[in-house]
Amino acid sequence: MAESKDPLADTVVNNLKVYDDPRKMRDVVIALRAQGRKIGFVPTMGALHAGHLSLVEASRRETDVTIVSIFVNPTQFSDPADLERYPRTLFLDMALLSQLSVNAIFAPKQDAVYPAGYSTSVVVSGVTDRWEGEFRPGHFSGVAMVVLKLFNMVQPDIAFFGQKDYQQTLVVRRMVEDLNVPVQVRICPTIRERDGLAMSSRNALLTADDRERGLVLSRSLKLASELFAAGERDATKIRQRMLAQFEKTPGVTMEYVTLVDPAQMNEVSHARADSVAIIAARVGNVRLIDNCILGQVDAWTTNR
Ligand code: PAF
Repeated sequence: MAESKDPLADTVVNNLKVYDDPRKMRDVVIALRAQGRKIGFVPTMGALHAGHLSLVEASRRETDVTIVSIFVNPTQFSDPADLERYPRTLFLDMALLSQLSVNAIFAPKQDAVYPAGYSTSVVVSGVTDRWEGEFRPGHFSGVAMVVLKLFNMVQPDIAFFGQKDYQQTLVVRRMVEDLNVPVQVRICPTIRERDGLAMSSRNALLTADDRERGLVLSRSLKLASELFAAGERDATKIRQRMLAQFEKTPGVTMEYVTLVDPAQMNEVSHARADSVAIIAARVGNVRLIDNCILGQVDAWTTNR
């Protein structure tokens, strides 16, 4: 029987090479590194938006070659319905990336990442105990596992992640440190819509009404920043004011709203310039997260 041609196998989209075979991807990177090129890597689950594109730009500024991976990682979804619903726009993503100076896309198949018999896990403890770790059991093991695998497959010099997934950035940094992974990790600022909503692939799943309700996340973070800037240091008071925003917004189920320290994400009672305000909430059937570092200028002050 004739072997069917995989439509994605080493495709070229507008001069941009798309690799699906991890060995080929690695060989390409080995050859590029032998030419002295510095490799930048932006891991994504696709459904690309301006936040991802800012990571690509950061990589282009700092490295010679930028590789973007697109892989919807099943092991980081604790809810099968969430995995099913997750937006998949591979061909649009490829077209978008082909317009930027990305050098290659790595879009491995599920069985190349998780072959039959696969039975290893990566568990980062401590920083995963609460918040996302509590509301999405197993999520961070899936993230740590796939990020480590992607790092091994692509072997980048520098990898770029968004601050929007604040806890994820700590998990990746911890894993890299603990397992001596030779990859530098860069965290880039959250990119927001003009009205403050943090860019997320999940925003595409919001109805118009829910999108409006979802603004309560950035609104309460902005309020926390303003209170801090005005001199408020009592974390309980800041949190109460944030919670009041949620009480005024029907149709939004808050999961957590709090202030934590930047390294371990333990709740703080005294707010400092590096404290992080974190939020997770369900808006309709879409779960959104957001955060801000209190003493930092966030995009809601620059975007408007
Ligand atoms: O942040 C994401 O999009 C994902 O968690 C990541 C890092 C690509 C791993 O699947």
